[in-house]
Amino acid sequence: MIPVVEKHSVDALIVGSGIAGLQAALQLAPEASVAVLSKVYPLRSHSCGAQGGIAASLGNCGEDATQWHAHDTIVSGRGLSDNLAVTFLAEHANKTIIELERLGVPFSRNEQGLIMQRVFAGHRHDFGKGPLARACFAADRTGHAILSTLWEEALRRKVPFYNEFLALNLIIEKQECQGLLAWDIRRGGYHLFRTKTLLLATGGYARIFAVSSNPIANSGDGQAMVLRAGLELEDLEFVQFHPTGLFGRGTLISEAARGEGGYLINGEGNRFMLSASPEFGELAPRDYVTRAINQELVEGRGIDGLGKVHLDIRHLGEELIESRLSQIRELCFKLANCDPVHAPISVCPTAHYAMGGIPTSFQGEVLFQNDPVLGLFAAGECACVSIHGANRLGCNSLLEAAVFGKQAGIAMQRGIKKSNSFPIVKDAALGTVLGSNEKLMKREGDESAVAIKESLQKVMMESCGIRRSENNMRACVEKIRTLKEQCDYCAIKGDSLPWNMSLVEAIELGNMLDIAQGVALSALERKESRGAHYRLDFPEIDNRDWQKHTLFKKNGNDFKITFKPVHQSSDV
Ligand code: FUM
Repeated sequence: MIPVVEKHSVDALIVGSGIAGLQAALQLAPEASVAVLSKVYPLRSHSCGAQGGIAASLGNCGEDATQWHAHDTIVSGRGLSDNLAVTFLAEHANKTIIELERLGVPFSRNEQGLIMQRVFAGHRHDFGKGPLARACFAADRTGHAILSTLWEEALRRKVPFYNEFLALNLIIEKQECQGLLAWDIRRGGYHLFRTKTLLLATGGYARIFAVSSNPIANSGDGQAMVLRAGLELEDLEFVQFHPTGLFGRGTLISEAARGEGGYLINGEGNRFMLSASPEFGELAPRDYVTRAINQELVEGRGIDGLGKVHLDIRHLGEELIESRLSQIRELCFKLANCDPVHAPISVCPTAHYAMGGIPTSFQGEVLFQNDPVLGLFAAGECACVSIHGANRLGCNSLLEAAVFGKQAGIAMQRGIKKSNSFPIVKDAALGTVLGSNEKLMKREGDESAVAIKESLQKVMMESCGIRRSENNMRACVEKIRTLKEQCDYCAIKGDSLPWNMSLVEAIELGNMLDIAQGVALSALERKESRGAHYRLDFPEIDNRDWQKHTLFKKNGNDFKITFKPVHQSSDV
């Protein structure tokens, strides 16, 4: 029997209520009929976890220039950033910050009352010279401040939210997106959203690793739906490990701590970054600092022989820590029973950000084999506009979400104007997408989703994490294949739909396994080291053979990897 499906027709469906999704919603509402669908309550979207800042060359705390920002982004991307996209981002940064300020984002201020800016790794003046202050911030709660402001504005404009709804499958026919099937986790019903335009703003997938700064919800749902719909994902192998996650937890300890002057110390009491990067010390590029910490740990110089080093900010003093790093202090108190005013913080690298994702244009159009998929858009971490290349520059993720979320909203407005009617979703198409969930509900066996997920996170961390090699990655790919088979014998507990967390776990796990397979296979294929992708067996960058994007596509149980060139226009 086909279950009851509640049907909705909207001009624009936005999946994900973080900064990218809300920026698009504000562009569209109230003129267009919009629905925002979110797996979590909107204020818990992962954007709220962004701490240190949002990049813009405002020059409020020292001279800066758009071209310097673009240059730093490209240098950080190690040859895989598309320079037109980067220039677009850098040129839209200042205006975006001012728009956010006018909406009410409570940015921290300097003595002149201007938005305060702080130093972050890789941000430099005069095309790569000394450090400069480019990160605009609201203490160390920048993402939270922006997200709350956008959410309040969305409520003021009466944008309808469908909270705690899990997106199940896209409905795409002949390169045209017609809508999406979702499940209301709280009440249990299925919902079909027919829509003229659909934005995926579902965030990243760093939770496929055992140590991660991401929330549990970041299971790559949007990217996995794209794969299931037969489309491609780009540059999956590039996952950024942030140098400083709270030891034992992975929770982000913002780079702002080092930007404000914090040091990294190993188990022998040495400030090892001074020799690892004599020029930039703790403010060397993120991938570099991560590998330097990893090197200390691998060579047995962790604190107390454990997998951690110390981040020391005591010398900054309580007043500065309270005014600019208060969340870090609170997190350390609550999660590690440590007060960084009086004791160093135990840290280790943590999986933080997916540089790759759903290939999109600057207008947020999802691309398949370089052509837009009609009506389908993506923005924020789930998208890959090819800005970040192989290693994202700190503070460009909030900026990307704000700039390209808005751009997607503008393009969706155009799409809505062009289409007079809602797409017709055929019963057969609905049957197919519903069928896969119904099949899940009928699974039998006594495998545990939790155990499979933990095994996945462990193997990804150990074999496809900061240091990779052919043998490890082959074993990793094989392990993922076994875990996928085990997953088929993982029965859902309970046969009712409302609050069936076992079903949530199973759906998320399926998504994570698909994405992990893409990450591991793409990483195995790329026989060089570049940015966050570091191979012990190919330790050098190879621009002759590998300065190209990876495209990963699934074909049933099979997969295909192809490549596309990096766009580096001479017009910038
Ligand atoms: O360290 C941080 O606050 C992280 C910033 C970012 O990933 O952009």
